[in-house]
Amino acid sequence: MDKHLIRGGNPLYGEVKISGAKNSVLPILAACLLTDQNVRLSNIPHLNDVTTTMELLGQMGVKLTVQEDLSIEINAKEVNNFYAPYKLVRTMRASILVLGPLVTKYGQARVSLPGGCAIGHRPVDFHVLGLRKMGADIDVKNGYIDASVKGRLKGAELSFDVVSVTGTENLMMAAVLAEGTTVIKNAAREPEVCDLANFLNSLGAQISGFGTSTIVIDGVDALSGGSYRVLPDRVETGTYLVAAAMTGGKITAKNTSPDLLTVVLEKLEEAGANISFGKDWITLDMRKERPKAVNFTTEPYPGFPTDMQAQFLALNTIASGKGEITETIFENRFMHAQELRRMGANIKLSGNKAYSVGAPHLTGAQVMATDLRASASLVLAGLVARGQTLVDRIYHIDRGYECIEEKLAQLGADIKRIPDASSI
Ligand code: UD1
Repeated sequence: MDKHLIRGGNPLYGEVKISGAKNSVLPILAACLLTDQNVRLSNIPHLNDVTTTMELLGQMGVKLTVQEDLSIEINAKEVNNFYAPYKLVRTMRASILVLGPLVTKYGQARVSLPGGCAIGHRPVDFHVLGLRKMGADIDVKNGYIDASVKGRLKGAELSFDVVSVTGTENLMMAAVLAEGTTVIKNAAREPEVCDLANFLNSLGAQISGFGTSTIVIDGVDALSGGSYRVLPDRVETGTYLVAAAMTGGKITAKNTSPDLLTVVLEKLEEAGANISFGKDWITLDMRKERPKAVNFTTEPYPGFPTDMQAQFLALNTIASGKGEITETIFENRFMHAQELRRMGANIKLSGNKAYSVGAPHLTGAQVMATDLRASASLVLAGLVARGQTLVDRIYHIDRGYECIEEKLAQLGADIKRIPDASSI
């Protein structure tokens, strides 16, 4: 397994180009199953999760061609296999996103249950209940969801107890080709849900209300083809900004959108950063200052994103003052805390809260990545630690950060990838 070797102490300076959003591109690729026409997607990040999704769609019969400009041309006219096997779903929970499109377009699907996930229980009951309410016959057994419907799915009123991002997306995609109107209440308002809705509408879907907690979808008979550019990645943007804040540097994130990061930018300002931005760029200047600790509670959008929690906990460990972070989305999302402690961080966990007392510096250590955003927090900690940090199991980071070591190195970090077989 590859590792990252980091020698801490360099402040970050310069420009970093932000990639397309992982959490947009995955549902948008799945949504390509809904049309027989050609679709061209651009601003696609080169990530392991994208490769896995392409492999999943490819084995269903979808034709995917990567163009010279790295956009992808997709045609799903000859889909002949409606099966998402465990070996692919296991590595990427978002594979569940093919369920809604397959049932609504082809009347059948067999999708593996995602199984245990490091950051919590993460069930898919909303996905299943919603499709049942729309008329699908669903059997969940032997680790698989078997779904079928005779004729078309029927529009229905759907409501979630808890806000679910992929649940909203799956049912929205199913509703696009259903007969009649579907109303999704307590829907996720995340920008990636809006990106998916905008993409589907560009192909002729009739979706309104996205970005609010009630989404209304009027089913149509078929979708057309088209071209679409995926939204910038707000979590990747936030991660580089936190990295600059922790190291006392000054960076500009380009090809991004400040509108997607309002609460994150507010927290960075509270931590002492000077922030300026334009339509598609954000500059953070820490003026060589040590950050101040911040307090927050993770919430569904537009609240503070759970996907930025780990990075801010890393910031709090070297900030001045005490920090208190409450995680409300996932029940087991503090696994980075014990790894950060190995680097000298003073963190106490109690239930869904992480209390920290910032130290002037961390010390390098050998640590292990446990999930995608946790791995990012360990890399950030390594950037400010004294000495050498070795982050193991960085396959997690490759799921969601395009060329992270190249991008950080360009900003002045001392980081390199140690390939699997090498010894150091
Ligand atoms: C998505 C994001 C992930 C982000 C998360 C929360 C993608 C590919 N992933 O994950 O990066 O951290 O949103 O913003 O977009 N729940 C249920 N039953 C369900 C579905 C969810 O109880 O059927 C619960 C989950 O256990 C969790 C909460 O709802 O406590 C939110 O989960 P959800 O929004 O569904 O997360 P994902 O869509 O998997």
